[in-house]
Amino acid sequence: MTTTPPPTPSASNSPGEAGQQQLPVCLVTGATGGIGRAVVEEMAADHHVIAVGRNQDRLAQLADFSDRVRAVPADLTDVESLPELVDGLDRLDVVVHAAAVSHRLDFAEATPKDWREHLELNVVVPAELTRAALPLLKASRGTVVLINSGAGFTATAGNSVYAASKFALRALGDALRQEVKPDGIRVSSVHPGPVDTEMLRGIYTTMDKPYRPEEYIRPASVAQAIRTVVDAGEDVQLTTVSVRPRVEQKG
Ligand SMILES: NC(=O)c1ccc[n+]([C@@H]2O[C@H](COP(=O)([O-])OP(=O)(O)OC[C@H]3O[C@@H](n4cnc5c(N)ncnc54)[C@H](OP(=O)(O)O)[C@@H]3O)[C@@H](O)[C@H]2O)c1
Repeated sequence: MTTTPPPTPSASNSPGEAGQQQLPVCLVTGATGGIGRAVVEEMAADHHVIAVGRNQDRLAQLADFSDRVRAVPADLTDVESLPELVDGLDRLDVVVHAAAVSHRLDFAEATPKDWREHLELNVVVPAELTRAALPLLKASRGTVVLINSGAGFTATAGNSVYAASKFALRALGDALRQEVKPDGIRVSSVHPGPVDTEMLRGIYTTMDKPYRPEEYIRPASVAQAIRTVVDAGEDVQLTTVSVRPRVEQKG
């Protein structure tokens, strides 16, 4: 991890105000991104939130948003250090994996570095962080939310690297769901279509298409879908959720 401190577990669960002792705890990666930030804001209504990201200014904004939010700087690609994010926590109820990288690359131009970058952050990181969190999630009968993509169902030209990583993430979730069934842990794949965030803006800079934010999903709408996943009745898990624009874009 390039930066610390880790979420000094007991301390991170300590209430910042009276009466919060019993609040569940939610860890969100990619919290400094468009969707992650919206998830932090949504979940902070009734959770202590451990918000993980790299951008220091945005982490500071998240910490200012609510005293229920603890901002934790971390480079997730330091995979060996991922357990530090959960070590010593008193409880952990929800993990939302939002951090990811997405570059449009023609297959012929994608390098091993590109493949490793996508597979590392989009697959290995959620796998390893979830693995480290399993004992706590078992204790809470918690929920793992893997933010996937429409690209986790359909691969298109110019998107092989990102799509392959999201297909892998879906497979990870499907297999994990079966393995943790005896523990009562729920595993949900949430697949947004185009969302108005920096990631999408970055993708559009490489395409010969105008960026039209009004046509894309708002990050808060994805956060609402994740709220529905987390709040689902005790008797169910929402295994796969597609969040599409109300009016689908033409290819
Ligand atoms: N936007 C879309 O159209 C769209 C569509 C479908 C699915 N998704 C998925 O939704 C999720 C969130 O995407 P988004 O649109 O919110 O993206 P975003 O705004 O670009 O945010 C990406 C997040 O990932 C974090 N991140 C990147 N590399 C990291 C690293 N090495 N260590 C720690 N954090 C790192 C960034 O942190 P820093 O900025 O602090 O470095 C940022 O918080 C992703 O899984 C993405 O694949 C997005």
